[in-house]
Amino acid sequence: MNKIKFVIIGAGNIGSKYVSLLNELPDSELIAVVDSNFGRRKFIDKLVPFFTSLEDFFTSKIQADVICICTPNGLHPSQTIDCLNAGYHVICEKPVALKADDVLKMMEAEKISGKKVFAVMQNRYSPVAIWLKKLMSLKLVGEIRLLQINCFWNRNNKYYNDSPWRATRELGGGPLYSQFSHFIDLMIWICGNPKEIRSEFFTLNKEINTQFQDSGIINFKLGKNGKGVFNFTNAAFETNIESSLTIIGSKGNVKVGGQYMEKLDFVNLEQVFEIPVFENVTKANNYTYYKGSADKHDVFLKKVIDCIKNNQEPEIGLADELNVIHFIEQAVLFAEAKSY
Ligand SMILES: NC(=O)c1ccc[n+]([C@@H]2O[C@H](COP(=O)([O-])OP(=O)(O)OC[C@H]3O[C@@H](n4cnc5c(N)ncnc54)[C@H](O)[C@@H]3O)[C@@H](O)[C@H]2O)c1
Repeated sequence: MNKIKFVIIGAGNIGSKYVSLLNELPDSELIAVVDSNFGRRKFIDKLVPFFTSLEDFFTSKIQADVICICTPNGLHPSQTIDCLNAGYHVICEKPVALKADDVLKMMEAEKISGKKVFAVMQNRYSPVAIWLKKLMSLKLVGEIRLLQINCFWNRNNKYYNDSPWRATRELGGGPLYSQFSHFIDLMIWICGNPKEIRSEFFTLNKEINTQFQDSGIINFKLGKNGKGVFNFTNAAFETNIESSLTIIGSKGNVKVGGQYMEKLDFVNLEQVFEIPVFENVTKANNYTYYKGSADKHDVFLKKVIDCIKNNQEPEIGLADELNVIHFIEQAVLFAEAKSY
């Protein structure tokens, strides 16, 4: 098969990273960019056709295989559905949607189109996450008794002023969608789906003007008798502190930490299990004045290319993300019902 032909919609922070990655990967070819802001054209260092709407790209009849959706969160469902209906595979940036109902509509469009949707949860490709997934699949901690996730990050006024959509409920949604959906995805992938989700949201930094609260505590049940707690904030002073996951099990304890769960902080198991050295193996996506999650988009894109070439199902698809969006939606609904 020839090179896989990619189009990017949304040439902002992450979209421009796709431009350089797709230029470097041997089996990929960037053939067009779409961004409603024509000014973004100057940030594309490869001369390719540039369109200011998806419709204009569709009518151009330029041949492509995959469209990468790197636009504001709230646009992902309708743009994904439009691209599927027009006959393209889709890479959809996280979060795939802000409502579980929209994920169901995307799944329906995927089924009818016969095309595939790849959800970008690149943290799953960090070596610590792969190791922890194996450890948990082998049930080496026994039954989960207690799970704790702490995501303590910083997002400042510049972050919201640079792209004002990020501060809105309709297009951004809040920290659980924009920052911490990665860690919710890891939790569900590794430990299973939580039940009985209860939450409280609050704002710690009142100098930052967003349409949602910057912090919260979520409680839930996990497995037969396990309890979970997810603490999050975007109001840590100046920089991200950590994203950590601690599991207290009946046969062992494990904690992964660092800024985006890239380090093994603690492990003690009844059974022997190989413990690799994880130091400095995963970097963060660096957007100059703030840092994001694992720098693994290259691995993700290679997997997408292999999958399309071999006509396989996506490793991370909409069904996985339905659970993530459902968890967030439940937490938001509970917190909002309580605050009235
Ligand atoms: N996987 C990750 O770790 C990761 C990292 C960063 C961002 N993201 C996701 O990528 C998406 C974009 O984030 P960003 O930080 O790059 O945002 P950004 O504001 O820097 O870029 C968004 C771009 O979309 C364009 N756009 C807006 N509406 C459009 C429309 N209707 N049609 C075409 N273009 C349109 C804007 O002009 C802008 O250039 C978000 O969903 C975000 O959550 C994911």
